[in-house]
Amino acid sequence: MDAALAKRIAVQDAEALEMLGVTFVPVKQKPQDQHSNLLPSAATTNLEQTPERARKQVLLDEIRVRYETDQPHQHFSTDHTNIVFGDGDPCARLVFVGEAPGAEEDKAGVPFVGRSGELLSKMIVAMGLSRETVYICNVLKVRPPNNATPTPEQAKLSAPYLYDQLRVIKPEAIVTLGLSATQLLLERTDSMRDMRAKWWDFPPPDGIHAPDGFDTPIPVMPTYHPAFLLRQNTKENKSKVWSDLKLVMSKLGLQQPAKAR
Ligand code: URA
Repeated sequence: MDAALAKRIAVQDAEALEMLGVTFVPVKQKPQDQHSNLLPSAATTNLEQTPERARKQVLLDEIRVRYETDQPHQHFSTDHTNIVFGDGDPCARLVFVGEAPGAEEDKAGVPFVGRSGELLSKMIVAMGLSRETVYICNVLKVRPPNNATPTPEQAKLSAPYLYDQLRVIKPEAIVTLGLSATQLLLERTDSMRDMRAKWWDFPPPDGIHAPDGFDTPIPVMPTYHPAFLLRQNTKENKSKVWSDLKLVMSKLGLQQPAKAR
């Protein structure tokens, strides 16, 4: 790696950690992963094209086509140009589930590329991962008018496609970003304060709407949505999110960042 690139990466890592209010040095990454973190939306894939990855990509494409055909969003009002289905590695060990695309995501057809996405990318980098090695999607696949929070009815119409995505990817853990995704997957109506920082199962053992076809439940870690962190940018909130993400790192056996000297 040349010195200029190494310097840009070091600066970006420092910014990511500062943004999260973390006084740690980040986990070392493989050089090919670092590239993709610099420009997440323009990242070219460095992942090996294994038969399993190709098989899962085909299945995800099929779900996307089914969504495009069914257009479940025809039953509610939207303000969308593009369908924002999902982005990342079909074999990801970790899936992030957000709420709904915003204006930038609608334009690009890619989840989390606006301001919240920038922060999410930094959170992913701070965990020692890259956007291309995780999978990112939303409860709603189209932009609601005025960035409104999805209603339970809208979430319910879109949920089967999200469940199918999770069934194909079968990640080792899911991070739900904010209330919509958390309440949908856990089938609970509690506050984020009560649900975050704990592991839950998807599908929930007592779920009424939970889908079948998941042989073993997937651990879910709810945490605050990056948009909430941008709105309420306090050290306390940032360290809560970071502590949730550290639980995820432990679950996946990822190296915890060493304390800065
Ligand atoms: N907020 C979300 O929940 N999802 C996006 O894709 C962008 C912003």
